[in-house]
Amino acid sequence: MTKPVAATTHNYSAEAHHAFDELDRRVDGVFEQLKAWRGWQLFVHPDTHHDQMLAMIREILKAVTWYQPHTTEAGFHMIGRLAKSEVKLVQALCSHKAEEAEHGLWALEDHGILADKAAKAKKEPSSPAAFAVASVWWRMAQVEDAFGYLGAEYLFEKLTALVTQAALPVIEERDLPRGGLRFVIEHATEDAKHAKFLKHLILDVVTRYPESVVAMNRCFDYFNAVYPLPVWDEAYERAMRA
Ligand SMILES: [Fe+2]
Ligand SMILES: [Fe+2]
Repeated sequence: MTKPVAATTHNYSAEAHHAFDELDRRVDGVFEQLKAWRGWQLFVHPDTHHDQMLAMIREILKAVTWYQPHTTEAGFHMIGRLAKSEVKLVQALCSHKAEEAEHGLWALEDHGILADKAAKAKKEPSSPAAFAVASVWWRMAQVEDAFGYLGAEYLFEKLTALVTQAALPVIEERDLPRGGLRFVIEHATEDAKHAKFLKHLILDVVTRYPESVVAMNRCFDYFNAVYPLPVWDEAYERAMRA
């Protein structure tokens, strides 16, 4: 399990707490937008057929398989650009990213369970929005202030925690077959822990480098411009066509 760099001291500045609360509120705002999105509305509607719900999950998982290997590699690149004196921070972030590395494979496995034979055999190129996610991450990794990583990564982790925790009761109530839902089920607990882990790193970094919050917010915005709605709405369209 990844450990926060400064979790034992907790001497975070008031400015850092303020910056983190603001970032956290921004993720809540993205989650509210997501709940108003047509795909979420369909997912939670009691009349929606199981097949449609599973088709949406299947297509979102397909998108994960398209961008996740690239966001992982870009993430490692960006972490590698941190100041070389930041040994503990680099260790903590690399350890977390290493845990994340195989999650694209969970998505691939789940997609394989949910897809029919023909869809499994077809190796399609990335959708435009999933391609844009990979592109934004690589661009951030190459040119952005490396502390910006924490803002974009917080959106990734906290939003996944919120969405999967909200999806679980719906899955249970509708008694959807659990095969193919490992990614969703495991992320409900894993990403709550990861969000907490990142919270401590953000508080630590902003306490030591108050100006870093600007890059964190900027990278949050860059990532949010392409994720989640553009990617998930493409998934919705594919699911409806299937
Ligand atoms: Fe993950
Ligand atoms: Fe995670």
